[in-house]
Amino acid sequence: MMKLNQPVLLIAVFVLLAGLLVFAQPGKKKILVAHRGASAYAPEHTAAAYRLAIEQGADFVEQDLQITKDGVLVCLHDLTLERTTNAEELFPDRFHTDVTEDQPQTASPAKHWYVSDFTLAEIKKLDAGSWFNEKFKGERVPTWQEAIALVRGKAGMYPETKAPEVYGKRGFDMEKLLMESLRKNKLDQPNADPKTPLVIQSFSAASLRKLRDEYKTRLTLTFLIGGDPQKQWLTEDGLKKVKAFAEGIGPSKGLLDREPKIVEWAHAAGLTVTPYTFRSASTGKFKDVREEMTHALFTLGVDALFTDNPDQFPRR
Ligand code: G3P
Ligand code: CA
Repeated sequence: MMKLNQPVLLIAVFVLLAGLLVFAQPGKKKILVAHRGASAYAPEHTAAAYRLAIEQGADFVEQDLQITKDGVLVCLHDLTLERTTNAEELFPDRFHTDVTEDQPQTASPAKHWYVSDFTLAEIKKLDAGSWFNEKFKGERVPTWQEAIALVRGKAGMYPETKAPEVYGKRGFDMEKLLMESLRKNKLDQPNADPKTPLVIQSFSAASLRKLRDEYKTRLTLTFLIGGDPQKQWLTEDGLKKVKAFAEGIGPSKGLLDREPKIVEWAHAAGLTVTPYTFRSASTGKFKDVREEMTHALFTLGVDALFTDNPDQFPRR
């Protein structure tokens, strides 16, 4: 048998370790963001959905933010209450109708119960669970502060400034409210609480720029990129521009499917990629949501993703 002398042995060990470093890619752990909590199994943006997301191993729990009439940040996806609460039943006369150019006055306009028309005390009366399943009756719309109390120490948080321009027209500064709250909770600096990392996301480039330039946040920012009007960002040049105000992009999985090179371009620009939304309810050409997430993470090479099904996230 060949006898290895010491220098050869040392070189062999070095080559082996280098290989391990390259292939194992330490620090490249794939990140699971629970979309509105574990929202495939419990009503979105409720304590039940957040708790289950944590139990299912979420690295981050996502919160969409809205603002009540009395200026309190609450966790709800829609600007309006009727889809996920019984606002219509409890407050039958408190709707607004939207009359838009493509909706003639003669048509019967849709009724909407806007979050910003209700005080927190009123919103707390609403049942946010029954629409999903009777067994969740009594779940409430959580405030952002309650979400912090529930998630802190157990997972990261991934708040989204939702429609900040709409709230701006109603006299609210969503970015200010969020940063004040983070400061108060001592979560406004990167790594302030290693068990509760914070990433702020938005479809609004203006909102992220405001957080970075006006509120001087050094927290990680993710720019969400959805429909056709935003597609302009998803070019090599566009992504370099995103790098000026964000650390990552969150493209819709449909856009990524149409142009998988987005991942390469984003990485070259120094941006992470966190597509949305992977859910058992719609998996397209894939057998199931686990297979779809496996493809995104390990074939397309995304860094993280938003999913309604945290328990199906493929860990390697
Ligand atoms: O924030 C990621 C994803 O949630 C964006 O879509 O509409 O579910 O907030 P949406
Ligand atoms: Ca969201």
